Formats: sequence, C-alpha cells, structure tokens
Amino acid sequence: MPAPPEFLKYIDDNQGAFIKRLTDAVSHKRQVSALYSVSGDPTLRKDVIDMGETWLHGQLTALGVETKLVWLGNEDVDGQTLQLPPLVIGRVGSDPKKKTVLVYGHYDVMPAKKSDGWTTEDPFELTVRDERMIGRGATDDKGPVVGWLNVLEAHQALPLTLPVNVRFCFEGMEESGSTGLDKFIEEEANKGKEGWFDGVSYVCITDNYWLNTRKPALTFGIRGTAYFSINISGPATDLHSGLFGRMVHEPMTDMVKLLSKLVETNGIITVPGVEETVNPVAPEEREEYEKMDYTVQDLRDAVGGKAIELSEDHTQLVMNRMRFPSLSIHGIKGAFDGDGSKTVIPAAIKGRFSLRLQRADRPILAKLCSLVEPQTTDIIKTLVTNFLNEEFKKLNSKNTMEVEYVGGALPWVATNKHDLNFKAAHRATEAVYRQAPDYTREGGSIGVALTFQEELGEDTSVMLLPMGRSDDGAHSTDEKLDKDNFFKGTKLFGTYLYELAAA
Ligand code: BES
Ligand code: MN
Ligand code: MN
Repeated sequence: MPAPPEFLKYIDDNQGAFIKRLTDAVSHKRQVSALYSVSGDPTLRKDVIDMGETWLHGQLTALGVETKLVWLGNEDVDGQTLQLPPLVIGRVGSDPKKKTVLVYGHYDVMPAKKSDGWTTEDPFELTVRDERMIGRGATDDKGPVVGWLNVLEAHQALPLTLPVNVRFCFEGMEESGSTGLDKFIEEEANKGKEGWFDGVSYVCITDNYWLNTRKPALTFGIRGTAYFSINISGPATDLHSGLFGRMVHEPMTDMVKLLSKLVETNGIITVPGVEETVNPVAPEEREEYEKMDYTVQDLRDAVGGKAIELSEDHTQLVMNRMRFPSLSIHGIKGAFDGDGSKTVIPAAIKGRFSLRLQRADRPILAKLCSLVEPQTTDIIKTLVTNFLNEEFKKLNSKNTMEVEYVGGALPWVATNKHDLNFKAAHRATEAVYRQAPDYTREGGSIGVALTFQEELGEDTSVMLLPMGRSDDGAHSTDEKLDKDNFFKGTKLFGTYLYELAAA
C-alpha cells in the first residue's frame, strides 16, 4: 500500500519546519548550563538528560503520542555517581487488528570539539551549507529520530491515522554502552500483556547508514564489540627522562610492547583464538558480499580520498567490515600528547583498544575457553585478558599492569532478511528512491538489536533501516546529513509503515 499522496506532499511542503526541528535537536542546550547531549562526558550528563526529559518528551507529547520517561537509575564513572538519561518511550494506537512496530533510535551523541577540525562555527549548532546539514548528531542519530517526529507531525496535521500501532524506544546512553536498557527491555517483555512492547512483531532500528553514497540499504546484521583498557603504572609521578631514563621500568615502553602484540598491520588479529574462531565463509555467503554495491573508490572517498585500503578486492573489503572481526587501537591516556618535546616518563597510562566481533560457533571455542557458547564478549574477554597477562609476564617488568574490560555489545544477524518487515521496507525504498535497496551487514554495533531479538522472541523481525549515507561522518568532524536523505528518509519511514500495514 503506497503512502497517501497528501502525506508525501506534506513532507515536501514543510521542509523548512523540519530543518528547524533538526536545528533545535542538534543545538538543544540547557538554559542554565548551556551544555550538550554527549553521554560519554560526565560534565555534560545534565544535558543528555534534558534532551530526553524536556526536548524529546515535549515533542512526542505535543505530537499526540502517549509518552513515558523511564528512569534507569545511576551509574558510577571514575568514582562519581551519575544519573542515567531516561528512556523516552511512546505508544500510538492499540488496535488489535493492526500490526505493531517498535521504532528505536538514540538522542545522545558523540563528543565534539571545534579544535578537532570542524569547519563550522560550532559542532553543536546545525549549519546548513548548500545541500548538507552539518552538526554533531545530524546523522547519528538525531536526524533519524527527528525524521520519525516529522512523520508524526504530518499525520497529526493532515490529519491521518497511522496504519500500524507504533511503539517508540529512544535512549540516551547508546554511545556509552546502552547502560540500563537491556534490563528494561527484559522486564517489559516479561510483563506480557501489561508490558510496553506487548504485541510487537516488527522492530525498526533507524541508526545506521547506506553502504555507499548512491544506493539506499536495508541492513540485516551488525558486528558486536568489546572495549578494553590496559592500565600500567610504575613511578608515583611523572619523571624526568634525563634523570631516570634507563634506571626504572617505564610504563610507556611496556604499553607499546603490549599493544604491538594485538594486531598486524594488515589487520589480522594476533590474540590467539580470535581469528581461529571465525566461521569460514560459505560460497553462497561470499556471493552476497560480491553483489553489494561497493568499490575500492567508495572506501577511498569515505576516508578522505586517500589510497590506504588493505585490499584491492572489494569483496574482501566488504567482508573485512561486515563478516570478520577487527581490532583497533584508539589511544593512550595519561601520556604526553601536546606540542613541543616534553622529556618525561609518564607514570600511569591507559591504552585503549577495542575489537569488533562476529558470531562464530566452531568447536574450537570449547577447547579454548571451556565454553561452548558462540562467540561472545565473555569469550573475547577471557582470550584477550589471558593473552595480555602472559605477554606482560614475558616483559619481566616491575610495573603494574591490569587489563580492564570496559564494556561491549553482542553481534546480531536477522533470522530472515526476506520477511514481511524487510519486504515492506524494500517496497517503501522503491517507492521513495525509485530503486531497490542493497542488503547489507554493518561493521558498527548496536547492542539493543540482539536484545530485541532475544527478548521479543524469534518470531519478531528485527531490521535496520538507515536514513544517511556512507560519507556522513558519524563520530567524525563535520558530521552531516544531506537534506535529500532527511526529506526522503522521512518519506521512507512513513511509507514503510503503510507498506507494513499492507504486507
Ligand atoms: N550508529 C552507530 C552504530 C553503527 C555504526 C551502525 C556504523 C552501523 C554502522 C552507533 O551510534 C554507535 O556508534 N555504536 C557504538 C556502540 C558502542 C558504544 C557499544 C559503536 O559502534 O562504536
Ligand atoms: Mn548511532
Ligand atoms: Mn554512534
């Protein structure tokens, strides 16, 4: 069933108001502290809370949605107790004759500083430059969340009744590990008829991007992640390297040696057990990656025009992103990182790295970790921690080293990527973009995908429906959303609901 023409016309006629709404969402600041919705920065926590409690809750309520704030309690960060931002959940319609779809997005964003290299005045103000809207959260994930609000506005204004029952689940801790969310979903699922997710058979997660800049996508799998810190300390304070060099064990030397043991320059992970536990790629599966619309040039474009690819084979590249695990070293905290040349021996440092995980269930796991479960963050935690402890022993260092597991998310793959949910999104894509979508898996992680799948049951279909493009620069400088993706994405979300109702 196509979306009503008046719905599509409303989107065309109200572009200015929609840009205004995204502008407000990106630039939402507390009157008092004038800070922003970054979940990973303790000093900005009040603003994430305000974004959910005031802005998003206010928007949904004004748009006629039965809305509830779910407070998830507190968390401890470096000895500081912080309140968790609320889940903003909403309900439209409870008609037993209609299908029920659960929409997920997040209203928190990554940190951003102008000095990181943003070319706009302020990363937390939406800057419209020709066809692009630039600002932190534009594509990840305020743009998509605002897209849903636009769909609601159109239905309220025209007025039109939504063709399906909708439940919204918007969280404010996604970029910091979704603390508290799994527990809430589990509790609600266990409540059955009384729960918020009662009757949900379709889940639509709008928190990812097309594989390229040309072709819309539907996404049926994502990798998991496990985040670690190697903490090394020695002297009580930083030391002068001229006075103490070659007299003491240096934490930084130990750190560099340990980090170098984790991964080869070609990307192969050298922690024993990680590569070995990945399932081989079956020929049919390989074909799917071959078919995906991706070229080496797409990769070059996405990384700023540089030819730094690990392979010339686009299928291999796509598999490396979607199918195989990866390990990235993010940085060393506590070490000298300024200008000039400081001759110091840092006393206590933290080396940060994380892995992207893929599901694997080869029997070798049983031998390695006396666990027969498929690849999980637990198994990776054991492999990484044991390996680093052994390697540290070999260094014969008198410093103290601790491997800290910071957090993670599990991988997810859809049970059936051709069910009614995907079919509806496929038709909606064809209607709005005049072309069929690519079917992709993603390299990034959204912990809640597997949780929805597990808690709402195998018969519930989970799907990712992206709004933005591959070059949007999520987490990066000058993060943007193209106007075209914003408006067409809004139409896509609305049309998907009609196609789902008819499917
Ligand atoms: N929107 C991303 C997830 C994503 C990234 C999907 C790339 C598809 C492609 C999400 O906001 C995100 O950044 N997730 C974190 C999760 C982590 C904090 C557990 C990630 O992937 O690093
Ligand atoms: Mn996101
Ligand atoms: Mn993100």
